[in-house]
Amino acid sequence: MSLSLNASKKPVALITGANVGIGRVTAVQLAKQGYQLFLAGRSAERTQPVIDEIRAITGQADCATFLPLQLDDLVSVRQCADMFLVTGQPLHLLINNAGLAGAKGVTRQGFELAFGVNHLGHFLLTHLLLPRLKESAGSRVVTVASRAHMLARRGIPWETLQRPTASMTGVPEYAVSKLANILFSLQLSKETQGTGVSTYSLHPGVVDTEVWREVPRWLRPVMKWRGMLTPEEGAKTTLHCALQAPVTQSGLYFDKCQPKTPSKFALDAMAAKQLWDASMNWVYQSEQT
Ligand SMILES: NC(=O)c1ccc[n+]([C@@H]2O[C@H](COP(=O)([O-])OP(=O)(O)OC[C@H]3O[C@@H](n4cnc5c(N)ncnc54)[C@H](OP(=O)(O)O)[C@@H]3O)[C@@H](O)[C@H]2O)c1
Repeated sequence: MSLSLNASKKPVALITGANVGIGRVTAVQLAKQGYQLFLAGRSAERTQPVIDEIRAITGQADCATFLPLQLDDLVSVRQCADMFLVTGQPLHLLINNAGLAGAKGVTRQGFELAFGVNHLGHFLLTHLLLPRLKESAGSRVVTVASRAHMLARRGIPWETLQRPTASMTGVPEYAVSKLANILFSLQLSKETQGTGVSTYSLHPGVVDTEVWREVPRWLRPVMKWRGMLTPEEGAKTTLHCALQAPVTQSGLYFDKCQPKTPSKFALDAMAAKQLWDASMNWVYQSEQT
């Protein structure tokens, strides 16, 4: 892969999981707004159609670049961050969009799969890119969470995070991972106060995408109820947080392009700090694996 070493004059965005669904629409819309894009995902082949679409819109060959990223492997997350950092590009926008629901198991480093992919992989990616985000002041981190965090009725169940997915549906674990997304964004807003970096989490709506492909077949009609949003509609709140939300709203959770009060567990500043500290320990312990 050839990556440019020249600093771009365009604003630069890195999006995870942009080959399909909400991430794909977000990437295309940002390209229309003049962003230089890095699309981080599992498959170059499956990301190529998005890159082709962006090239056709912008008429520029180098406006979108694929970066390999497997969020279920912290080694891959480090490699992805390194590949971006060596380009020398600034980073104005990081969108932690990728996510899975209903898949079961553990990550390569032994974390419950939804927690490891949806939270911990993005935690490490953000932490590694934070110096570059700070250098590119006025930058933003947008994390796609979910209203499903409200189903995490015990808060973060610490004792389960380093075990395989225990539930039959994977939905309780998904809810915990999405609660972790909101707590992460809340604590990140504190860690970045005064640095020129702002941070937002959001619920995109209930959107007709492939996110529920792994939940048991009998549960899918419940998830895929009529009246779901299109991915175009589902990308609106991400784009609002990326492009319009005031920096004074850093750390807040959004729904329908407005700040929204999340569950009481997602407002727990002590849990947010505890999760941040634990995540730091986990990702740096994992350097030995
Ligand atoms: N759709 C909804 O109703 C809804 C509601 C609330 C929140 N959300 C959130 O919205 C975000 C986007 O989801 P979506 O609805 O657009 O779903 P989607 O179409 O299934 O897209 C999910 C993306 O995440 C990527 N991904 C999954 N596991 C990964 C891993 N281990 N490493 C790297 N990338 C991985 C997928 O890559 P592959 O193509 O390689 O699998 C895909 O690009 C997710 O965070 C989801 O939790 C969605």
